Amino acid sequence: MNTNFILRGFGHHAPERVMTNADLERFVDTSDEWITTRTGIKERHIVAEGEASSDLGLEAARNALAKAGLAASDLTHIVFATFTPDFIIPSSACVLQEKLGISGQFCVDVQAACSGFLYAMETARGLLALNPQAKVLVVAAEVVTSRVNWEDRSTCVLFGDAAGAAVLTAGDAAETPRVVDIMLGADGSLGELLTVRGGGSAIPYKLGEAVGEEYFVQFQGREVFKHAVRHMSAISQTLLAKHGMTTADVDVLIPHQANWRIIDAVGRKLEIPQERVFANVERYGNTSAASVPVAISEALDMGVIKPGNRVLVPTFGGGFTWGAMLLQF
Ligand code: UT7
Repeated sequence: MNTNFILRGFGHHAPERVMTNADLERFVDTSDEWITTRTGIKERHIVAEGEASSDLGLEAARNALAKAGLAASDLTHIVFATFTPDFIIPSSACVLQEKLGISGQFCVDVQAACSGFLYAMETARGLLALNPQAKVLVVAAEVVTSRVNWEDRSTCVLFGDAAGAAVLTAGDAAETPRVVDIMLGADGSLGELLTVRGGGSAIPYKLGEAVGEEYFVQFQGREVFKHAVRHMSAISQTLLAKHGMTTADVDVLIPHQANWRIIDAVGRKLEIPQERVFANVERYGNTSAASVPVAISEALDMGVIKPGNRVLVPTFGGGFTWGAMLLQF
């Protein structure tokens, strides 16, 4: 495969409302001290009533298109990563397409939980390899709070809502910024450790019946923590080795933003010093698939990522799914 995958623009968006740890203290048996020391999270954005994933995705997409200097009508494909779609049918990609005022394009949703953005980027690479003239919009948008049990303090303090987007085209070998490579993996035998079980075909909704805890995010925190650190570090090493590189060649590490302790542990395992690790989990919480594109987009806006930088992006999520992406700016 000789195609080069050019990053035309990144964008992100978060809903206006901010919920601080102090706000949570008012209705959950928790404390700012516990949340801060265990997770590094201080606040998260929460959608307004009626605001859905496609609404967040729309703002992120507009932002990415503006940075790319492209119009929505230039797009040929939309790949939308989410585990909190607006609806089961139509897909969020189709809803977003309509909101962008365009029609006719290829539209699909991708679900790989927190690894969704990397799986969507890999889908985009496949589409570009098949259609070198394509202009692909990759969006990751989540209203995680729609699947949060606000009575479960061990999960509800961790999550937030946001969206990130990227526009990709094919280009010349020398062109930057580009996707150098992506590697992905999964292990379905560990799926039970992180779930939203209700509302699918295995545990369908029943008319008139109340929903139980299984309709919301549930996980075994310590197990998830352990596997997340192990897989994000291992796949990062494998990806770098494939390209004859080591972590010394990485200018900025942007891991999935689930918990500062996980981010820090991945950085330590990879022996990448903290000053080369970018984290915004403090202000967003875990926004699932959106976390990585939001962080990349913010790091670009803040000038943390500079031209010439090599950026390593490992991710981990339910399934289990994991991956690593190497970007050359
Ligand atoms: O993208 C993947 C999504 N999943 C994750 O990101 C989860 C990954 N795991 C984690 O981030 C960590 O395991 C947690 C932050 C979830 C928990 O940290 P921990 O150090 O593993 O704590 P723990 O689960 O062992 O809980 C310790 C204590 C328990 O009390 P006891 O049994 O020791 O008395 C919990 O009941 O902390 C208690 N606890 C809380 N206390 C105050 C749990 N949640 C809270 C809370 N506020 N929100």
